[in-house]
Amino acid sequence: MPSFPADFLWGAATSAYQIEGSPDADGRGRSIWDTFTERPGAIESGGDARIACDSYHRWQEDLDILSEVGMKAYRFSLAWSRIMPDGRGRVNPRGLDHYERLIDELRRRDIAPIVTLNHWDMPEALMADGGWIGRSSVDAFVEYAVAASERLGDRVDWWITQNEPWIIQLLGYQLGLHAPGIRDLRGAVTAGHHVLLAHGRAADAMRPFTRGRIGVALNLLPCVPATDSQEDADAAWGSDGYVNRWFLDPLLRNGYPDDMRAHWERATGGPLDDVIRPGDEAAISGRSDFLGINFYTHRVMAAAAPGPDRPFPWQVVGSTGEVERTDEGTEIVPDAFRDLLIRVHRDYPGVPLIVTENGAIFGDSPTHDGEVHDVRRTRYLRSHVAAMAEALDAGVPLRGYMHWSLLDNFEWALGYRPRFGLVYVDFRTGERIIKDSARDYARIVRDGGIVAGADVRASQVDSLGAFG
Ligand code: FCB
Repeated sequence: MPSFPADFLWGAATSAYQIEGSPDADGRGRSIWDTFTERPGAIESGGDARIACDSYHRWQEDLDILSEVGMKAYRFSLAWSRIMPDGRGRVNPRGLDHYERLIDELRRRDIAPIVTLNHWDMPEALMADGGWIGRSSVDAFVEYAVAASERLGDRVDWWITQNEPWIIQLLGYQLGLHAPGIRDLRGAVTAGHHVLLAHGRAADAMRPFTRGRIGVALNLLPCVPATDSQEDADAAWGSDGYVNRWFLDPLLRNGYPDDMRAHWERATGGPLDDVIRPGDEAAISGRSDFLGINFYTHRVMAAAAPGPDRPFPWQVVGSTGEVERTDEGTEIVPDAFRDLLIRVHRDYPGVPLIVTENGAIFGDSPTHDGEVHDVRRTRYLRSHVAAMAEALDAGVPLRGYMHWSLLDNFEWALGYRPRFGLVYVDFRTGERIIKDSARDYARIVRDGGIVAGADVRASQVDSLGAFG
């Protein structure tokens, strides 16, 4: 029996800020990333996203590529500030017009739109009240979600309210490495809570306008102990609370996990009762029709004493020995991917799963023949498809897979250096070149997820020479 169901959503993902460019077109408002990219030193090589992949203009070309490589779904995001330029109140219909055209054209091509509402580009105007630290951000997000679903709700079957609450909290408000560039531990946990509360409230507010399924995309990182000591086991479990359970439990159970809440309260100097108010957890729980999982790697953890830059008693130490890595040094661990899918299903049963992101940085560029022979991305993709087949065979209700990313794009604080795309983008001209990995992915999709050559594990690379 084939592992992948016939209606499996094979696709690719992008986000508005990373590909669109055109920050001033059709009444778009300013977003926190427009401001952040202007901060000296914030973006590697000083890049910005004023043009990026120019997808605001070239979107039909992007859809042509999706069709050419046989994708069944496309995950993209709406730019919040195109729709709510002032953060609150006024809705900009021209922003919605753009996405309506995009969605209609996807549907005409039989490609299912998977629409993210917040892929990090909050309207700058909301910073007047602290961004996600301000509780009013929840109401602002609900206004936006209503505006989007009122117009688009009849033609979208899959909604993702929030992308990666932990990364918003961590990089945006704890470490200040992403917009809005704040470093405030208590502010960070507050922001993360409001992101989740906004999901719950928005999901309720959207229901009258859409029959589509509503979920959140979490970036989950399996946390494994570096040694078999009890201390490292505790460190891994603590880290799992910080990264994974802090978000999974309130969304898919009934509230925040006690062990991690105690860590947060210790690290931020007091109870969180003024942040997590009565009724909040009930408003977050039970509001997800599916879970989106963004998977990149695992975290190998060891015990460590807390200190000025370490709020919790653990640290990431990484693997020792030989591990395959991306060009950025990220460990490639498809077995951990399979185990994660099985674990999420075991611990949070009954929730359909979609892999909403998975991909890797490999810097391949066109060779003398004008083609991009990104062998390692192909291998990466195949090994992760094989991991999903194993998870499906183990009974995991997996509904789709969105490779990150369709296009090389603006990779946030890292600028344009990291290339995650199935499609190469020449950022000087905007020209797109379909990489070998995309063509191989097209074959996998055509064959219903069968990865020819059986053994596709990263360690068995050499047998894979001739997948063309
Ligand atoms: C995820 C983000 C996505 C992209 C990938 C590489 O954290 O959701 O926008 O940056 O990582």
